[in-house]
Amino acid sequence: MTVQFKPAETFRDTFTYRKSPEDILRFPFPFPEDEYMYSVNIEPHVRGGPTAAFQAQFDIDEHYVAECRERERVLKEDPKRCQVLPHMMAAQWDTLEMIMENLAADYPAHFTLTKDGDVWTWVNRPLGIHQTFTFGKAETLPCAPFEYITRQAQGDFTLQDQREDNLFVDGGMVTTQADWSLEFDIGMSFQEWHGPVPLAHEKGVFDRALKYLLRLQYGQPVRRLNWTMTINPRLDTSPENYPVWGPDKATVTSENVAEKVHLRVELQTLYRLPRSGAILFGIRCYLTSLADIAKVPKWRRRLHRVLRDLHPDIAAYKGIPRYQQTVLDYLAPLDDGSPTSKGI
Ligand code: HEM
Repeated sequence: MTVQFKPAETFRDTFTYRKSPEDILRFPFPFPEDEYMYSVNIEPHVRGGPTAAFQAQFDIDEHYVAECRERERVLKEDPKRCQVLPHMMAAQWDTLEMIMENLAADYPAHFTLTKDGDVWTWVNRPLGIHQTFTFGKAETLPCAPFEYITRQAQGDFTLQDQREDNLFVDGGMVTTQADWSLEFDIGMSFQEWHGPVPLAHEKGVFDRALKYLLRLQYGQPVRRLNWTMTINPRLDTSPENYPVWGPDKATVTSENVAEKVHLRVELQTLYRLPRSGAILFGIRCYLTSLADIAKVPKWRRRLHRVLRDLHPDIAAYKGIPRYQQTVLDYLAPLDDGSPTSKGI
């Protein structure tokens, strides 16, 4: 697969991020039906799926170069967005190998990995990188292996150590998150880091999801979709930066709602890593404005119905109530009331 990149886009201040028509159609729209409730919506992460976003193991799109530059800016301002606990060194190398091999396999025009024993050469053409290093020797890379490779991938990543029949988030590169903090969560167990989520604990969603993940096999990755809403195409909506983006919610009006309000979808992938036995969790973020959603009749009908009937505790958790009515007033006339079929 080859991609035309748009390196000058911004995700803050000037917000020049825009989607091409092809990029709109590859959006992983997250609702298989007209209503939404938390569930263990996990399926095998095999190449192929409802849109082109599912065609690669680690999806790259036209925003790749701009997103890597945005990550660089966030890390410069706040280096703690990337942290890995010392016992996760094997998992760092596993991650580097997993991402390099898959990017090279899925996008040979953009990435090449050559191995001569432990001496590897990595070429990343879109970012202009040509690096020879020794696998397993961190001093042969410009920074630690997990940071090195996740600076060159779209989306956030966390590393989970498995012990005591539980998962612990013992590392991560988290610069494009929907209002949660790696600095706060690092070292927590599966139930602990999911503590703030409403309804799902009582429904047994997290107990079932954890049981499933503890048995995740190497070579059989899985995926799920999660969603929220974001004002402006802003990638970094972290608690650390809340004063910067929180007030945006009060700026939504009936005039600007279509351009300002974005559906934020996370294509989440989970991989068992080969040597460490840890789990790599990818959180690939896609932003699409309501104006772009409105171009697809099934999406605009369905989003209207989901938001209209959304459980108030979920709406509150996602920070939507402040502008929910303005969004519904925009979407309601676009919903012709016709039935929708199941599926995305
Ligand atoms: C939310 C991490 C796997 C379901 C969250 C949050 C974090 C997180 C940090 C935000 C919590 C907060 O508000 O502070 C992770 C990590 C995973 C993982 C590191 C990797 C093992 C899963 C799985 C499920 C799941 C397998 C399947 C049911 C959810 C749900 C939410 C959530 C439903 C609420 C999202 C929303 O309403 O926006 N997760 N999660 N997570 N997670 Fe996970």
